[in-house]
Amino acid sequence: MALIVLAADKGAPGVTTAATALGAIWPRPVLLAECDPAGGDLAYRLPAADGGVLNPARGLLTLGATARRGLHPEQIHEHTQKIIGGLDILAGLTHGEQAAGLTWLWGPLGRALATMPGADVLADCGRLGGHPQLAELTAEASLVVLFTRASLDHVAHLRERLQIMPREPQVGVVVIADPRQYRTTIEEVRRIVVGTGRNLAFVSGLAHDPKGAELLRGQWGGRLDRSLLIRTARELGGRLAAQVSAPEPVMGVPVEPSSGARP
Ligand SMILES: Nc1ncnc2c1ncn2[C@@H]1O[C@H](COP(=O)(O)OP(=O)(O)OP(=O)(O)O)[C@@H](O)[C@H]1O
Ligand SMILES: [Mg+2]
Repeated sequence: MALIVLAADKGAPGVTTAATALGAIWPRPVLLAECDPAGGDLAYRLPAADGGVLNPARGLLTLGATARRGLHPEQIHEHTQKIIGGLDILAGLTHGEQAAGLTWLWGPLGRALATMPGADVLADCGRLGGHPQLAELTAEASLVVLFTRASLDHVAHLRERLQIMPREPQVGVVVIADPRQYRTTIEEVRRIVVGTGRNLAFVSGLAHDPKGAELLRGQWGGRLDRSLLIRTARELGGRLAAQVSAPEPVMGVPVEPSSGARP
């Protein structure tokens, strides 16, 4: 099914948090793959399905050790683990230095993830730019989603990134926005990134919600389900899933639906 790359240019806008929230509410079977060359966080942040701890060494590291002679999509699930709530994850590297020995992995991994039978893949690729070979993975995606905070420095770096990214695959932007000025913040960022002249699939939002982000690290429950983070993740996830299942020619930048000022 589809590979969707989630990434950022600079800073830590909340890619891993967004990836976890999207994985939790994704409307189809999904695998959350930590492909951040700087190392993964999920095994340290989230409980395993049985309430125990995840094994940080089982994931990209074990996959890399066995995939030298070729990597088939069916092999991926030999290295995944289930987190609480039942979501399948491929845990990332345990530290950034490991990426130096795995530069060959990103291309074959991208091809395997993009052709996984029966599940979409959300790949958390962290910050783009530091590892040129990661482009071999992002090239295999149906969609690249760039996350940003709304601050001037974050948006300035995002603009630069958009200008140097290849025309394919298509790119969408998600602003981690204050719920009190949700629609206006997204619209402001939209105006700035449109100035790059680059076609974008969409400019959308996800709530800045520290309580929701904290709750996401523990047991799924009603409070988390009602949080702004999860409510806005549902809206975003529905849009992303629809985008990759029915790709259409991209003409300019669709404006957010104006369904009120608050998410
Ligand atoms: N939507 C959000 N609302 C509020 N706080 C958030 C949100 N997303 C992330 N955070 C907080 O921001 C910090 C960084 O989040 P996260 O690890 O998801 O960012 P990242 O972009 O993946 O960073 P890195 O590049 O280091 O991997 C964490 O403390 C997290 O709780
Ligand atoms: Mg991260």
